Amino acid sequence: SKHLLGIKDLTKEDIHLIFETADNFKDVINRPIKKVPSLRDITIANVFFENSTRTKLSFELAEKRLSADVINFSSSGSSVKKGETLLDTVNNILAMKVDMIVMRHSSPGAPHFLANHISANIVNAGDGTHEHPTQALLDAYSMRERVGDLEGKNVAIIGDIIHSRVALSNIFALQKLGANVMICGPATLIPKYLSSFGVKIVSDVREALAWCDIANVLRIQLERQQIKYFPSLREYSLYFGVNKQLLDSLNKEIVIMHPGPINRGVELTSDVADSHHSIILDQVENGVAVRMAVLYLLAGTVG
Ligand code: CP
Repeated sequence: SKHLLGIKDLTKEDIHLIFETADNFKDVINRPIKKVPSLRDITIANVFFENSTRTKLSFELAEKRLSADVINFSSSGSSVKKGETLLDTVNNILAMKVDMIVMRHSSPGAPHFLANHISANIVNAGDGTHEHPTQALLDAYSMRERVGDLEGKNVAIIGDIIHSRVALSNIFALQKLGANVMICGPATLIPKYLSSFGVKIVSDVREALAWCDIANVLRIQLERQQIKYFPSLREYSLYFGVNKQLLDSLNKEIVIMHPGPINRGVELTSDVADSHHSIILDQVENGVAVRMAVLYLLAGTVG
């Protein structure tokens, strides 16, 4: 495909090709000369309609390491505030001879809508509560780096699942790679449709941690919550928070992940987030190589 809209559309072979390509780029960016000329004639626009730190900077760095020309657009401070539509905004950017669009948008399906209306390559950098494919790729890549082949490994995804695009993309990626997936959180934060996805669903965080090799702990997304949910943040951290005392009581080694940004003391305490269990900053480091791989593979279809 010329786009990366979601993990749902990828095969296991596609994911392995991305990982092998990312392995090569990870070697490249650890050398004194970090740049390669692969995307020298390609222009990429990073189009962000929603806030981001990691994804936005990681794509920009990946593009620069590949020698692409890069422009950055944020809806805040733009003519979106004067009422310009998504399609008009993107068509105006494309009129400046841009080849690829990396887009984050708060509406699920926004990149799929664009793909039906424009000819440039599109990479989904997170569409509302739907998918965040490069996050799932960098997550699975980081898991594989720490524990080896994911076939048969147990991965628990803990937290605010209903508002999470990271959860859905992780489930698709992990299942394609042969991992067993458990979902853990309060019933109010787990969507009903997940029961048909072949994942185990539990509400006891101790049970999830006792079962898993890897726990991917997700953020409580207050900005997406329309109504006052049970539990409150205080109740959440009491009943679902991952903390050192809980991990120590299990007497086993678990790899702890989090896509960021962390609500410290809510879903994860600092004594876990900053401990030897955590590969949170490895995830961020790997994000650049994984995004280089995605852009490099898609660039083969530009034109
Ligand atoms: N993990 C992630 O998507 O972080 P940002 O929202 O900061 O990009």
